[in-house]
Amino acid sequence: MMEKIVSLCKRRGFIFQSSEIYGGTGGVYDFGPLGVELKNNVKQYWWKKFVTDREDMVGLDAGIIMNAKVWEASGHTSSFADPLVECKKCHKRFRSDQLKDKKCPDCGGELTEEKKFNILVKTFLGPVEDTSTLTYLRGETAQGIFVNFKNVLESARQKIPFGIAQIGKAFRNEITPGNFLYRTREFEQGEIEYFIKPDKEESEKQYRYWINETKNFYTGIGIKESNLKLREHDKDELSHYSNGTTDIEYDFPFGTSELAGIAQRTDFDLTAHQKSSGKSLEYFEEESGKKYIPFVVEPSMGIDRAILAVLCDAYDESDGSDGREKGEITLHLSPRIAPIKAAILPLVKKDGLAEKAQEIYKQVKSCFSAFYDESGSIGRRYRRQDEIGTPFCITADYDTLKDDSVTIRERDSMKQERIKISEINNYLFEKIV
Ligand code: GAP
Repeated sequence: MMEKIVSLCKRRGFIFQSSEIYGGTGGVYDFGPLGVELKNNVKQYWWKKFVTDREDMVGLDAGIIMNAKVWEASGHTSSFADPLVECKKCHKRFRSDQLKDKKCPDCGGELTEEKKFNILVKTFLGPVEDTSTLTYLRGETAQGIFVNFKNVLESARQKIPFGIAQIGKAFRNEITPGNFLYRTREFEQGEIEYFIKPDKEESEKQYRYWINETKNFYTGIGIKESNLKLREHDKDELSHYSNGTTDIEYDFPFGTSELAGIAQRTDFDLTAHQKSSGKSLEYFEEESGKKYIPFVVEPSMGIDRAILAVLCDAYDESDGSDGREKGEITLHLSPRIAPIKAAILPLVKKDGLAEKAQEIYKQVKSCFSAFYDESGSIGRRYRRQDEIGTPFCITADYDTLKDDSVTIRERDSMKQERIKISEINNYLFEKIV
């Protein structure tokens, strides 16, 4: 199943291996013409749901490179590490917590003792490469939010409880990247730091609320609820900053695995940055006249993992019993995130039908991402759109020239309706937004 999805993604221009013509880069992927639309739609929905539709949330877009002291204060230079073992025979390295037995999975060789391997990606800024110019590509977007807490508080005049949201790239030198987009070295995160009163009960309440809201996000992008699971972390697997974490997991073809984590970060980060920077990161509560460092509840998700889940959830190969031919692929993507919302197809190219379809295409394209296709039989053109998840196909035929009406075919049911050209945009608005 994963191989089929990877192959479809490459063939239809969703996702490519990075630097493929040079043999690739392990754990990095490029989003092609359809992939970037799909990803942008997922991010736009995230931003709308969590930022613009709410009154208690503001956005941020911080730099990927920060002062190295940020990562020392946050604990990442000391604690952001995976357990690493090396094969004594072939010298390949693996994460020991992901191995089923104590032998090298590649050659069966004996493995070394476990060592901690820090996964922050290092870089140097400036003309010399020494410890004074050493810094890191951010390992999580969250720290950009914490170090801007005071700036946002003073400029956006928010009152607790409120959140700061950010979508952006994060980098981790994963020892064993794998399962396509699931574990990569460069990926995007959508993170919210939600600042609340420093109170255990409030933290617990917000924690439950954000677990639910995060789950609603996934059903909002079309993932079946029955494929989502909640898993609370045991005390011994909690990150260095967390007092309680719940993962939202998805039933991937390679096993049930994490999509997102919701953590009670308490005042860990703001306290650490206040101490390390010497700058006050306290909040002044007008009503009580008290100052305090707020607690934080953090819903954090990987955008790339959401894309992978959406693709796995939507992928369907016909067994021939649903009116499609055996083996035909349909991506049942939610219209909300489908890269192309409508394809405009003239029944034939001649007799003025192509020109009429072009007019319709321009009308639809002014509001939605649309695609014009006049090559091949109509059945083949439908199939090409089904395979990339286009929810609606609009066909102009001979009647269109007489009465300005078209046929709209819905991808999943394959049902066809006749509507007026002037009604197409409203029809799509109703079905998509
Ligand atoms: N700020 C909290 C944080 O970064 P995390 O559990 O390490 O927590 C959050 O990461 C989310 O980022 C994960 O749930 C996952 O969706 C995504 N993520 C983490 N590592 C990833 C990787 N190597 N490749 C793709 N996505 C990753």
